[in-house]
Amino acid sequence: MSAFDELQRLDAENVMQTYGRLPVAFVRGEGTKLWDSEDNEYLDFLSGLAVTSLGHAHPDVAAALADQARTLLHVSNLYYNDLQPRVAQRLNALLGGGGRAFFCNSGAEANECAIKLARRYGQRNGGPERFHVISAYGSFHGRTLTTLAATGQPQKQETFQPLPEGFRQVAFDDLDALAGAMDDRVAAVLLEPVQGEGGVNPASTEYLHGVRELCDEREALLIMDEVQTGLGRTGKWFGFEHSGVRPDVVTLAKALGNGVPIGACWARADVAAAFQPGDHATTFGGQPLAARAALATLEVMERENIPARAARAGDRLTEALAKVDGVADVRGAGLLIAAELAPPHDAKQVAQTCLERGLVLNAVTPTALRLAPPLLVTDAEIDDAVARLAGALQ
Ligand SMILES: Cc1ncc(COP(=O)(O)O)c(C=O)c1O
Repeated sequence: MSAFDELQRLDAENVMQTYGRLPVAFVRGEGTKLWDSEDNEYLDFLSGLAVTSLGHAHPDVAAALADQARTLLHVSNLYYNDLQPRVAQRLNALLGGGGRAFFCNSGAEANECAIKLARRYGQRNGGPERFHVISAYGSFHGRTLTTLAATGQPQKQETFQPLPEGFRQVAFDDLDALAGAMDDRVAAVLLEPVQGEGGVNPASTEYLHGVRELCDEREALLIMDEVQTGLGRTGKWFGFEHSGVRPDVVTLAKALGNGVPIGACWARADVAAAFQPGDHATTFGGQPLAARAALATLEVMERENIPARAARAGDRLTEALAKVDGVADVRGAGLLIAAELAPPHDAKQVAQTCLERGLVLNAVTPTALRLAPPLLVTDAEIDDAVARLAGALQ
């Protein structure tokens, strides 16, 4: 029995079978490279779903974590710690200042916080009926019951009815559809600037400007879900920056700890003030280990000017993909890219073949592959990955 077969057996006998997994177990990583349980090497062009933006085992993040593990892993939010406010300060500076952050452990929790905050703010300013949240079809905001209610994918919602009330979805990138749904009960509009799980679909600049105007007219908050797009991934610090539109609330997670679980919900100070002590909490939120990971990650990102690097590398990858036989179209922003395959290619099948050829990416729709490599990816790694994909498509 191989090391992998043994792992697969252990998994089947002990782990809830909620994931449809591919037959590989990764055991080690460095930069853009991964190794599996049989010591095969891979190029990681998925970054654990846009998480390890600085690559695997980044020396600065690793050193900070080791030091923190020897210093202090956790204290309760009943007390201050010396790291949480410093992460909040950095995020606040990146988001233009004048806001406050709440820390949690995942993207879903960041959105859960944003939704609770919007309800609190909406009901305080607009009365008890102002608690509704409008999101878009094709969106993904998480798998807790509330974030699932906001996730515009009816097939994912069906199994878990009844879901919390107060959520509606409208067509994405369609201002008329949103305008038709806006009324005095709407506390917030929740959108991804580029729908990630929905297939890497960027919102148009005109749409986002129109959404901002509608929110202002109706006194609704604009929440940007930057869980996948945030922190340089799209070639700007935040995906919304491409449009120039400023949201009231921003949610983050994935890249914030470069693999250590940490999420954040940032809000304009007057909106954040709708929460009083005791309104929202989580045991691990902003604890020293996670906060230290975020601090180290943000420091490296700023030093390396990560958004500019992602923009440049994204241009190279996009251009190279567009020339590959079997790729019909390339869309996305920065290093969050979908390659739409020409028929009759099946994206799942191609992703599997890529894996066999040592390239990690995923089928984001039945006909499109998602590429989201570490933002420090080199030109040589981009060229190598594109060559492997071209080989898989032949
Ligand atoms: C845009 C967006 N929001 C929220 C989430 C949920 O994050 P998590 O899986 O950390 O709960 C995801 C996850 O893919 C996401 O892409």
